[in-house]
Amino acid sequence: MKKALIAAAFALFLSSIWMAGCKKDTIDPRTWEPVSFSVPYGWPQPVYTFTNNPLTSDGFTLGRKLFYDVRLSRDSTISCGSCHQQFAAFAHLDHDVSHGIYGLLGTRNSPGMFNLAWHPSFFWDGGVNHLESQPINPLQSHVEMDMTLPEVVARVAADNDYRARFKKAFGDETVNTQRIFRAMSLFMAAMVSDNSRYDKHEKYLPGGTFSDAEERGLKLFRQHCASCHKEPLFSDFSFRNNGLAPKATVNDSGRAHITRSPDDLYKFKVPSLRNVALTRPYMHDGRFMSMESAVEHYRTGIIHSSTTDPQLQSNVNISDQDKSDIVSFLHTLTDSTFITNKLFAEPVN
Ligand code: HEC
Ligand code: HEC
Repeated sequence: MKKALIAAAFALFLSSIWMAGCKKDTIDPRTWEPVSFSVPYGWPQPVYTFTNNPLTSDGFTLGRKLFYDVRLSRDSTISCGSCHQQFAAFAHLDHDVSHGIYGLLGTRNSPGMFNLAWHPSFFWDGGVNHLESQPINPLQSHVEMDMTLPEVVARVAADNDYRARFKKAFGDETVNTQRIFRAMSLFMAAMVSDNSRYDKHEKYLPGGTFSDAEERGLKLFRQHCASCHKEPLFSDFSFRNNGLAPKATVNDSGRAHITRSPDDLYKFKVPSLRNVALTRPYMHDGRFMSMESAVEHYRTGIIHSSTTDPQLQSNVNISDQDKSDIVSFLHTLTDSTFITNKLFAEPVN
């Protein structure tokens, strides 16, 4: 009898913890997933703070469904996830520039997606400065998904399952663009990648031992690269010209496309190098197929122009061995738990 009472009390205690974590009327054990967001130790505060868009399991799973839904493109063939693949840290593996509907080509390489909550701006030219307005571009782009926003809303609102999910996430069935973008933002902002071998190395955790080459590579990286590819996010999110020769066919002016200032010609957002081994090809136009050729650029390929970064006025003085050690180090930035985390994978239903 006493045992049964203790067991009952314990069960009550457990369920009170469970309830405390979620809103009573939204718990559905079939869809509830343990979504969370926390700032990894030693990282700066994120830019996106969920203040007006609280992170809930229902909002996150709705955003995930939208992200992977091909019906958000005109001919129902392309989802956000088509160009942002989890196994490639949400870049588009082996595609130099984006391939959208009807096989149409864009002009830029699809970047990896993780730690987006820390980005002050989005796209290679920083053309969008809020995560919640970012999906407008791919949805409306004629070479990506080719939709209008009213068409997106109509398609989503026509689906019973979506309407039920909007009700759970936002309190009623209304489907509108703000809610769609907020749900997608919950999914995207919760994608934190902080569990690479480098992270374990920095925290002296098991599994964080570096080889001699990796240690040397880290030192060289800090000497020549980390001023722009700043730790711990491996980007300072500034716009820089790293000395790539502009391609005559496209002549992508980069940041100047947004600011119209000649001082910003050919400057692009410094990409994070976390998971870089997974996101080939490299640079804003995907011109380099391997990490070796991307690093080689800094050694032999820097082109001087009036906007070339002051730190890269000439080729970086590194030996063959140094280059190979830097590449070894870059491999330690791969976070395999992130790319296999089921929370971020395409849902089964
Ligand atoms: C056809 C391929 C394609 C599709 C579909 C696509 N993207 Fe992208 N995505 C890209 C490319 C290419 C870029 C870089 C564009 C640029 O910088 O101008 C990008 C950039 C981004 C960025 C900015 C990342 C950064 O580091 O600045 C985010 C976030 C993003 N996409 C999310 C989405 C979402 C959400 C969807 C669905 C609504 C989507 N993408 C659909 C190819 C695609
Ligand atoms: C002056 C700032 C700066 C320095 C220093 C710098 N980079 Fe970069 N890096 C950039 C910018 C900007 C880009 C994107 C350029 C573009 O696509 O037009 C970039 C792109 C890259 C890429 C491609 C990443 C991707 O996802 O496409 C790699 C790899 C890279 N850098 C490695 C290095 C290494 C290794 C060093 C040191 C030898 C280094 N960088 C030094 C600014 C810098």
